[in-house]
Amino acid sequence: MIYQICYASEATSSNEQLMVDLREILTRAMHFNYVHEIQGVLYYADRYFFQCLEGEKTQILDLLESIRKDARHENLKVLQQKDIEHMNFKDWSMKFVRKRSEVKAFFAEMGSARFDPYLLEGESLEHFLLILKDTEAETPA
Ligand SMILES: Cc1cc2nc3c(=O)[nH]c(=O)nc-3n(C[C@H](O)[C@H](O)[C@H](O)COP(=O)(O)O)c2cc1C
Repeated sequence: MIYQICYASEATSSNEQLMVDLREILTRAMHFNYVHEIQGVLYYADRYFFQCLEGEKTQILDLLESIRKDARHENLKVLQQKDIEHMNFKDWSMKFVRKRSEVKAFFAEMGSARFDPYLLEGESLEHFLLILKDTEAETPA
């Protein structure tokens, strides 16, 4: 069985520092997640993070505890955690996706003028994951 945790959080750094933070986070995630057989996706836009982590349950819970203590973000809220059958982000130790018009359109359909991951739950969260699955990955500038 594979465990999945999805959460929302808010960036604390200035916009310039954030690009540096993202590079560091993704470099660390690429190595650490690979070694611990963790995969997932990180979406960043408008000062909010959305991340989904998938892997062995204790590994995922331990990583979430380190991430929770990270001062580069705050107000971390777990949106969903459950057992899943298949990894959704195969070949990605951490797929990175940045602000996309499809995401803005998706939130507009939900009645939100902007990307607000705290609104995601149940069906809307699954739908958002599908969008991220279908979207091309990026590297932080
Ligand atoms: C939004 C966000 C997502 C992160 N995702 C990961 C990740 O997927 N894998 C990882 O190893 N570290 C990730 N980190 C970094 C960890 O929070 C932390 O820096 C790392 O686990 C090292 O913690 P330590 O210095 O307490 O050992 C992320 C940090 C943030 C702010």
